[in-house]
Amino acid sequence: MATPEVHHNFIDGAWVPSMSGQTFENRNPANTDDLIGVFQQSTAADVDAAIAAAERAYREWRLVPAPIRAEMLFRAAQMFAARKEEFARDMTREMGKVLNETRGDVQEAIDMTFYMAGEGRRMFGQTVPSELRNKFAMSVRQPLGVCAIITPWNFPMAIPSWKIVPALVCGNTVVFKPSSNTPLSAHNFVKVLIDAGIPKGVVNMVTGDADVGTAMTTDPRVSVVSFTGSTTVGRLVNQAAAPTFKKVHLEMGGKNVVMIMEDANLELAVDGCLWGGFGTSGQRCTAASRVVVHEKVYKPFVDAFVARAKALTVGDGLDPKVEMGPSNSETQLQTVMRYVKIGQDEGAKLVTGGKRLAGGAHAKGFFHEPTIFVDVDPKMRVAREEIFGPVVSIVPCRSLDEAIAIGNGVEYGLSASIYTQDINRAFQAMRDLYTGIFYVNAPTIGAEVHLPFGGTKHTGNGHREAGVAALEVFSEWKSIYIDFSGRLQRAQIDVEQL
Ligand code: UN1
Repeated sequence: MATPEVHHNFIDGAWVPSMSGQTFENRNPANTDDLIGVFQQSTAADVDAAIAAAERAYREWRLVPAPIRAEMLFRAAQMFAARKEEFARDMTREMGKVLNETRGDVQEAIDMTFYMAGEGRRMFGQTVPSELRNKFAMSVRQPLGVCAIITPWNFPMAIPSWKIVPALVCGNTVVFKPSSNTPLSAHNFVKVLIDAGIPKGVVNMVTGDADVGTAMTTDPRVSVVSFTGSTTVGRLVNQAAAPTFKKVHLEMGGKNVVMIMEDANLELAVDGCLWGGFGTSGQRCTAASRVVVHEKVYKPFVDAFVARAKALTVGDGLDPKVEMGPSNSETQLQTVMRYVKIGQDEGAKLVTGGKRLAGGAHAKGFFHEPTIFVDVDPKMRVAREEIFGPVVSIVPCRSLDEAIAIGNGVEYGLSASIYTQDINRAFQAMRDLYTGIFYVNAPTIGAEVHLPFGGTKHTGNGHREAGVAALEVFSEWKSIYIDFSGRLQRAQIDVEQL
């Protein structure tokens, strides 16, 4: 057997092994015999070196004009585009989702990087009239310093790009910890930034587990923490960062609802629920894991949806015939299986799926059948808790008001959608669903990079990423007053002399 490639951390412009001397393996979730590579199991000492490098590099990087920083990012976007196919294949191999979806993931990084490159020539502040004569008033965005970036495995290139690219264009430096399940895509991402000319120390990457994250979120030299992952870990990140008053941006769980009204185009709704529920094997924070259906169209919708779910081809995402890949890890698959049991125990009706796929082509991967529960009570755990797998819970309803109440009745608030032909219903739902994202006649997934992305309640902590909203996370305002009167003018006091 060929020896696996060993990948290093990237600290202060150099690829270096962890001081721990320890490594971990990265294996293909569709076939665990396929060893993708060996990565560094880092410790707090590696993080310390990375933060020191980022802090040093910040002194110079913050002074590089934003349009010049943006030119490097523009070059990076072109390189991502040129290597899209290669990066997508690497990503399917380590993450599991089908090739079309990993191409979409890389595309999202391309889009975000071009978008933020444009921001380098905008980053608008305000100029406002002063209350006083011969006085000028304006605000400018300023960087914060070292940003700790912690990303999950479900969007291994898109999510790092949502955080790292705006951090850089704003003039910050970065210490990046990708998920240990998808470190190859993170390496690909960082290599492009280096090739595009990002200077030494500006971007650093340290792979490893939770102790790496803890070292990053507690270090007083870090000014910003941006984290995407579970609500449980997000809470720990927030607590760890609180004593040093870091700016913390959290993007966490979802239990997103699709509402199907009695006048909906059912064919469209079935297509949408299939894509929203089983795309990425349900491993999106935006996944359409709850479908609330009006009783008048309940049966025809369920029949058509179940038939389509049963027909999905599950397998290795590199095979072009495959429509749904594996869960990303044994742990994730076990979570799915645990929730199938929870659903059955609490009386939800399992109409298709419910089992691990273990024979033949599935023998060496973490495959699970597309699974649907019907007649689900909104109080059941499968209707309230994030499963992050190919499990959809269908809840009947009698009216739009009831659908909205069910939709809002969970602790998350990321994305929601309605299928209806009636503009009044669409607008009412758009107004009343308390989520960060809303769709009409489309599923809950598929956000684009130039609008704010994020959610309410336990999904987030008030910030958004993507679009100009990302600049709010990675910059802070400085208000500037320039008095060119040559005398003391006292704001709010010297008003009568005007
Ligand atoms: C995520 O699931 O963490 O809107 C991100 C979407 C994708 C991003 C999902 N553009 O579904």
